[in-house]
Parts: sequence; structure tokens; C-alpha cells
Amino acid sequence: MRKLWEGRNDGRIDDAAERLNASISFDKRLYKEDIEGSIAHVRMLGKCGIVPQDQCELLVSSLQTLDEDISSGKVAIDEEAEDVHSFIEAYLTSKIGGIAKKMHTARSRNDQCVLDLRLWLDRENDGIVSLIGDLVRSIADKAEDNISVIMPGFTHLQHAQPVLFSHWLMAYGEMFYRDLERFANLKASIRRSPIGACALAGTSFATDRFFEAEQLGMSDVIGNSMDAVSDRDFAAEFLFASSLLMMHLSRMCEEIIIFSSTQYSFLRPADEYSTGSSIMPQKKNPDMAELIRGKSGRVYGNLISLLTVLKALPLCYNKDMQEDKEAVFDTADTVRLVLNVFPNMIRTMIVNPDSMLDSARKGFMNATDMADYLAKRGMPFRDAYNVCGRIVNYASDNHKRLEDLSLDEFKGFSELFSDDVYEAIALETCVSKRSSYGGTARECVFANIERMRKRLSQLIQGK
Ligand code: ARG
Repeated sequence: MRKLWEGRNDGRIDDAAERLNASISFDKRLYKEDIEGSIAHVRMLGKCGIVPQDQCELLVSSLQTLDEDISSGKVAIDEEAEDVHSFIEAYLTSKIGGIAKKMHTARSRNDQCVLDLRLWLDRENDGIVSLIGDLVRSIADKAEDNISVIMPGFTHLQHAQPVLFSHWLMAYGEMFYRDLERFANLKASIRRSPIGACALAGTSFATDRFFEAEQLGMSDVIGNSMDAVSDRDFAAEFLFASSLLMMHLSRMCEEIIIFSSTQYSFLRPADEYSTGSSIMPQKKNPDMAELIRGKSGRVYGNLISLLTVLKALPLCYNKDMQEDKEAVFDTADTVRLVLNVFPNMIRTMIVNPDSMLDSARKGFMNATDMADYLAKRGMPFRDAYNVCGRIVNYASDNHKRLEDLSLDEFKGFSELFSDDVYEAIALETCVSKRSSYGGTARECVFANIERMRKRLSQLIQGK
């Protein structure tokens, strides 16, 4: 296939160089956006009197037909072409002749390729926003269904204080909600129109960049032609938002993996989200959670790869920039793949409240409440802390839990103890008393769920 740039050059390059140069194998994914951009461009050329109206109409209808024909499989994208832009122009030229060659008036592949990527990512990002909405919903629903289940809360992976399982879930709900906001806010960066910047300096044709941007639903027109062809911030922002999302998912997966081990047995991914072993008949492995944790690596890699490509790149188009697309495509594919699995994995996850409660009874997690008990009866907290530390040692040496100590044993440490200590250090009390805003008391978690649902519907509606 002839090259767009034949003339100065005879268009023939070394075979291996051709393979390095070509981007059609991956940028063919942009065919719809490329056609959409070309239609807007041609309409602008017609409106501004740069190309006669009747020719513009023929161009627009031919572009529309090509879109339908590629979508239906009637026309296959020829991978001999250098890139999707070359293919579409060459194809139209073969169909309608020389008029097709007018399409590229007052345009360059430099503004065209980044326009295509922006249009593609805008749609993809909308899809991701709604998938994250589903993710947040799945967490809130699971939390509501298990609102009163008590589990141990950990610091340093050591038993710390009892919390509600629903509180643990909603901590991730908060993270994912922030992801949702972050992706929703990306729209403003993505929808800035570069088209009409041409190669780098603008054009001497009397074009109307605003008309073109408006037809494409862009919300802004980039005000400096050199910046327009150089800017890939929107792509880096998308990769960063994706990396953060994957980091959150990976943290939650890590805990799901730990909690579904035999030592914990707090929960278990449903059979649809586990696999077995080829040799050990008893196995149910949390592979999906592990894969999601693992996929975070490639998404981070894509972010670092694009940032590295852009680092020290001189202004305006450099061929290095062709590397932007695969990083974005692979990330969007990975994020979608993962988000199609995770919410349903959460919904179907089997929760084992008895194991959680059993575990919560270990590790002296009510020791803080015992110290608070003494502090509320007048002992300075630091002294109460010290007394309770000694009680924990005593209980541990005697293989007892704090609530198993007799009142006499308690009184041996402080006369401030009385009968009501048992109520004060009951696990249920430890949880229900932590009712400060954002705390783990049932009503606080419930309020958290309600608040989250409200913010979610506002954000989705406000889109
Ligand atoms: N395939 C190229 C890309 O995706 C298109 C831009 C080519 N521009 C150029 N001046 N060679 O980046």
C-alpha cells in the first residue's frame, strides 16, 4: 500500500523497519473515532468554504458507509497499511477517487491521532465509571447484608480491636468511591480538542476549530497548537487513576486471600470464583483475587511506560508518542476485565460469622475497653493502660480471656473494678460503643452505607 508521505520519499522502507514503524495492528481499534473525527473535519471544511459542499457530502456519506462496513465485517482493515489513518484515507481514495485526498486539508496525523485517542478514551472511561459504580454498590449491599457481623480488626496483622465486617467492607467502599470520582473527573482532561492544531503550528486555512470540537462533543479547545499535539496528560492521568484503582483492588484481594485461608476461614469466594488443584483434591484456591492482585503489576507498568516515553520528549509530535496507545488500550482492557469479575465475586462471597467471632474473642482485643473502663472511673489513662497490660499478662499466663477472669482476680489489680466490667468488655459493647463519626458502631456503619448510596446516585445522575 502506498504511504501517505510518498513524494519526498519513495515510500519504501526496510521490512523490519516497517514492522517497527507500523501501528495498524493496534490503532485499528480507533477506526470508529478516526471516521467520526474525519466526518467532523470534513463538515468544518465545508462550512468554512475550504472544500465545496457537494464534495463534502460525498466524503461524509462515504465515511459513514465505511464505518458501517467495517463494523459489519464487510470491509476488513488492511494491515498492510501503516496506521488506521492511512488505511481509511487510502480506502476512500480507492472508492471515490481524488476527492478523498481533500479530506486531509488543514489537518495532520499529529492532531488526528491524539484526537482519536481522546474520543476513544472518553467512551471507555464512561464505561469504567459505570463499572466502578457497580463495584461500590456491591460493597454497600454486602455490608448491609452483614451489618452486625463482628470480626477482629488488625494493625500490623495482629489482633487490635473488634470491628464490624461491614465496617471493613465499607473502608474499601470509600476507596472505590474515590476512584469513581477520580475517573469521573478525568472527563474534563480527556475532552479537550486538539484537532485543527495541524502538524504543530496551526494552519493558514480559515478553519473553525470550535465548530469542529462542538460536533465531536468536546468541552474545550486546546489554545496552543504546539501543546495540542504534545499533550498526553489525559492518558497519563487515566493510567494513574487506573493504577490507584488496581492498588485498592489489590489490597482488598490480599485480605480476601488471607481471610479465606484455613487459618482464618472468615470467608470464601464462591465456587464460580475459585479454582481447584490438578493434584490436591481438597483445594479451592482464590485465583480470581490473586489474578486481580497480580494484574496491578501490568497497569503500574503501563503508567511507568508512558511517563518514561514522555519524559524528556521535545515539544510537538515525535514518533515515540505512538507508544501511548498500547499502554492505554491494555490498561482499559485490564481494568474492564477485572471490574467485570470483582463486584460479583463480592456479592457471592461466602461469609463465615462464627469464625470471625471466634477469632475476635482471641487476642485480648477488649483490653483498650478495659483501660477505658478504669479511666472513666477516675484512673489516669496512662496508669489504666499499665494496669491492663499486667492483667493481659496474667490472663495470658493462665490461658484465660479477660472476660473469664473472676471479679476477685480483677479487684486484685484495682479496686475500681466492679460487676459491670463484664458488660463493658463484652465484644458487642466494644463495637457498639465506638459510635464517634465514622466509627464501627452499627448505626455509624449504617449511616456510612446510606451516605455512600446517596453520593453514588448524585454522582451518576450529575454525569
Ligand atoms: N501512527 C502515528 C501515531 O499513532 C500517527 C502519527 C504519525 N505522525 C507522523 N508525523 N508520523 O502516533
